[in-house]
Amino acid sequence: MDRYAVFGNPVAHSLSPAIHARFGELTGDRIDYRALEVPLGGFAIFAQAFFDAGARGANVTLPFKVDAYELASTRSDRANAAGASNFLALRDGAIHADNTDGAGLVTDLETNLACAIEGAEILLVGAGGAARGVIAPLLARKPRRLVIANRTEATARALASRFAAQGPVEGASLAAIPRARYAIVLNATSTSTRGESLALPPHVFDGGVLAYDMAYGPAADRFLAAARGAGAASSSDGLGMLVEQAAESFWLWRGARPPTAAVLAELRARR
Ligand code: ATR
Repeated sequence: MDRYAVFGNPVAHSLSPAIHARFGELTGDRIDYRALEVPLGGFAIFAQAFFDAGARGANVTLPFKVDAYELASTRSDRANAAGASNFLALRDGAIHADNTDGAGLVTDLETNLACAIEGAEILLVGAGGAARGVIAPLLARKPRRLVIANRTEATARALASRFAAQGPVEGASLAAIPRARYAIVLNATSTSTRGESLALPPHVFDGGVLAYDMAYGPAADRFLAAARGAGAASSSDGLGMLVEQAAESFWLWRGARPPTAAVLAELRARR
């Protein structure tokens, strides 16, 4: 069986092995996919040894997405735009990096949640690695306006200028988020995974907003409950994004599109 893995630290609780095992069963494309804990500071040696031993590909999670990007010999435009990679594959004997996180988010919003990005005003909160990976894919879907708001305003403004050629994007501080009719408010900060709360001005949730947390499971509950309390019309954690980035990875490796709705429904039923 072709070998794949998700690299992270910690990684024991990753859902990726279960998701890829189901993809393999449902497509009839059996693969061996495991969670591998990589020593901190040891990413390049570990990943190189994995591919030297004949493995075909890997997903990469915290805190190694920048290491993965830097290790690769070739990189997709999406990986270059993000400056980070959650996806590695062996291509013609060399390690290739891509980034499927943004595609995962876009598919979850548009297909699973039936929430249009085109023509919408969107608020993206956070300007770290998680935010950076989704900006170009969001702009490619032609929103009317993308506001990046961050605790450190300068980081948001710098990110907005970097992507300015790709669409209507602007930076702001958390305290001075422009008033608009946001259709989607995305939490891409690390607050949910760290169990911290994120204080946003309540006006951002006015008027039919979908509040979305890129974290999944109980970690997302605090932000989503606060958003609903402030008036958000609907809310979603990032489980669909996780499943969809996995499906995009599976497709890039295997050339088969797994049935994501079924796998997402199974995972939600388990919760
Ligand atoms: P990740 O890879 O998960 O994005 P990161 O690159 O460390 O992690 O970025 C963390 C993001 O969460 C940043 O946008 C950070 O804001 P700063 O740029 O001001 O550091 C944001 N963040 C972290 N803790 C936060 C908090 N308590 N309130 C608001 N934003 C927070």
